[in-house]
Amino acid sequence: MRERAEYRYARERPASRVLYEKACRAMPGGISHNIRHVRPFPFYVQRAEGPYIFDIDGHRYIDFWMGHYTQILGHAFPPVIEAVTKFISQRGYHFGLVHREEVELAQLVIELVPCAESVRFCSSGTEAGMYATRLARAYTGRRKILKVMGGWHGASTDLTFYIHPPFNGMDSLGLPFNEEAPVIPVPFNDMEGTLRAMDRAGDDLAALIMEPMVGAGGFVQPSREYLQGIKEEIERRGALLIFDEVVTGFRLALGGAQEYWGVTPHLATLGKVLGGGFPLGAVVGPRDILALSDGTKGNPPVLIGGGTFSCYPLSMVAGLKVLNYLKENASWLYPLLEERGKRVRAITEHILLAHGINGVVTGTGSLFAVHFPKGEVNVSSPASLAQNEDNEKGHLFRLLLLNAGVFVVHGGGSISLRHDERVLDRYFEALSQAVQGLTR
Ligand SMILES: Cc1ncc(COP(=O)(O)O)c(C=O)c1O
Repeated sequence: MRERAEYRYARERPASRVLYEKACRAMPGGISHNIRHVRPFPFYVQRAEGPYIFDIDGHRYIDFWMGHYTQILGHAFPPVIEAVTKFISQRGYHFGLVHREEVELAQLVIELVPCAESVRFCSSGTEAGMYATRLARAYTGRRKILKVMGGWHGASTDLTFYIHPPFNGMDSLGLPFNEEAPVIPVPFNDMEGTLRAMDRAGDDLAALIMEPMVGAGGFVQPSREYLQGIKEEIERRGALLIFDEVVTGFRLALGGAQEYWGVTPHLATLGKVLGGGFPLGAVVGPRDILALSDGTKGNPPVLIGGGTFSCYPLSMVAGLKVLNYLKENASWLYPLLEERGKRVRAITEHILLAHGINGVVTGTGSLFAVHFPKGEVNVSSPASLAQNEDNEKGHLFRLLLLNAGVFVVHGGGSISLRHDERVLDRYFEALSQAVQGLTR
């Protein structure tokens, strides 16, 4: 079946195939972000609008990837296009100097995110994670960082550990560490295991960084007790809790996962939705900790460089448009996304089971992922999920869905405001069609 699905996929995308061959001669693997590869070759995007992407071979897909989950209001959100176009035509696009919109966005983030008293912007979620661990080390005067097995915080040198199963250490060659790597793995949702990891760090424990709901590791939900227990324990040990809210921020609730589960971390990292579809990251937290990066009085103890594109005006303008829209419409928008997410998870699982397929759907709010375990599965952590995941079935599922006009990553993705009932019904139809290929 896989050969048939791949054959059809390839036959219907001749222009993409040609472009991919050129890409392979210009870039390693033909890509610049590993997750963007699709076997046997990726389709090339022409444009995106609302819940859809369109490829250069003339196909339209219902998109659940939504620009790495950035587009909570749908692709090409008209107010963002209007604001960005106006900004460019009237004011230019990059100054490398301070401007009004960065102040307004910082104020809005402080208003919306519970742990945010102060904001330092950078250009990506990866940088934000790197800077947050740096701040935590400087603030505590300690070195060890705890990180969830299967957690993803970007590919910074500080956090490229225990990302992919079997979670046995560094996830890249070229890192400047020996066996004494400064990162210790933590099993998600396992308080005893987490306490053991804290003990291992001893009095050198600077921080635990975690996605409150693990994203790339399989959209695994935490229990509130686990998050609260960690917060109390980490405080008792004089260390910091960092929530990586790059995916969950402004997505699960206006105040992110910390509002959703009612547990406020010491520091948080933000990205994705924050920039309204443009590149942006931020570290947020208490004023006294963030103040370590204040360079106005001389050399700051913590260098948060920000970068050439820090507070990039178009990211600020787009971020302001999206966050203000979310704020003004939060009372109906988040319950609606939550309800759509529940419906998608329930019906997806139902369709899989009705066809006799051992599929498990995870996720929270407007996020969902589909897993194909080889037997029984425990969905409490990325490690337990990864143990017997049938990756080949996942690949076939994705191809079958592509051939039916739906694009997913990790079997699912994110639901935007533009994924209305009609679009979701069309997805369920495509899914029913696709899973028939899985049973053959
Ligand atoms: C939870 C999480 N943290 C950090 C990052 C890195 O963010 P960026 O890709 O903006 O560098 C990602 C990206 O997918 C992410 O999912």
